[in-house]
Amino acid sequence: MTVQDSPTIEMPTSGFRREDFVSPDILEEEMERIFRKNWMYVAHTSQLAKPGDFVRHDLAGESVIVVRTRSGELRALYNFCTHRGAQLLEETSGSCGRAITCTYHGWTFDYDGELRSAPRMQPDFDKTPHGLKHAWVDTWNGLVFVSLADERPPSVAERLPDADFGEHQLERAKVAVEYRTVIEANWKIVWENGGECYHCAINHPELGRVMSVTRTGASESHSLVADYRFDRKFPLLEGMHTLTMDGQFRSKRLLGDPDSPPEGMRFLNWHSSIFELTAAADHAHIQTFKPLSTTRTEVRLVLMVHADAVENEDYDAEGIFELHRIARGQDSGLCEKTQRGIGSRHYQPGPYNTVYEYSSQQFRHLYQQAMGQL
Ligand code: FES
Ligand SMILES: [Fe+2]
Repeated sequence: MTVQDSPTIEMPTSGFRREDFVSPDILEEEMERIFRKNWMYVAHTSQLAKPGDFVRHDLAGESVIVVRTRSGELRALYNFCTHRGAQLLEETSGSCGRAITCTYHGWTFDYDGELRSAPRMQPDFDKTPHGLKHAWVDTWNGLVFVSLADERPPSVAERLPDADFGEHQLERAKVAVEYRTVIEANWKIVWENGGECYHCAINHPELGRVMSVTRTGASESHSLVADYRFDRKFPLLEGMHTLTMDGQFRSKRLLGDPDSPPEGMRFLNWHSSIFELTAAADHAHIQTFKPLSTTRTEVRLVLMVHADAVENEDYDAEGIFELHRIARGQDSGLCEKTQRGIGSRHYQPGPYNTVYEYSSQQFRHLYQQAMGQL
């Protein structure tokens, strides 16, 4: 069932309340009900290729490491020692070496979290119950997600049943560019901004040369049960093939099957995981958003190309990044001025544009459900 079809769902007609953007208590509630509960994107599988490779993921007051085990699986482990609690890995990614070693008293853990040695502990000490605590990990199209929920949530594939990126074969991609920036705005301002294009015509002239900037909020997939939006046909203008400055491919080694490369572009906006993915034939683009405080959000942009594409031969990193960087800068400015405006005690949320801000309405509805406000 889609939102439009549903006779029972009343969509919110106006935006978030001022306190939703400034209250530390609400942020803590969001951490509990949204960020610690859902699948959050961590890395591409190519960044965890060999046993012992790890990526660290800090979110919602927790630090987790995702590690490739000796048997080739991925494990998500809380990044603290089960002895006195020292943080284990301080780098953001790399290799654990021969084991995960705590440098405080020298306890060592295998890549799957099992406690292997605890030097000079009493002879009857049983190592078995002192393995590292684990979180949940899942992969979907070569993308690695972690969840800090108590119970394992339904898999990412189950959560996104018709978000089909199969043609792009993202599991055979690699990360070409990774960029992080901090925006002085609440994460919901940043997320709403990324989901609507009501603002595009007057703020994104470069995007407007490549894509239709009057696209509406409607899309083929608006299931509130599934809580995401998926567009099989991203609205590129005639003659344009990808999100680059001139709309032309900037990686010669296309994603997917070389004999029948993907056609057009696909777009996913996954509200519960605060995760956005666009895929063209030459590159795919992820954006994730992490609250640092009520008024600061870290944005992470990840650009992927085919695993065999060679930098400066097949692709140029700036060529695939430039349009995204420019649009990100424009959007960040809009978000920051919105946060500054909302700081006024006289701010009251205005009405949504029900055609062009449909995605924001959908997000606010899901948010209110998640926060127990409905
Ligand atoms: S805190 Fe890690 S070995 Fe003691
Ligand atoms: Fe924008």
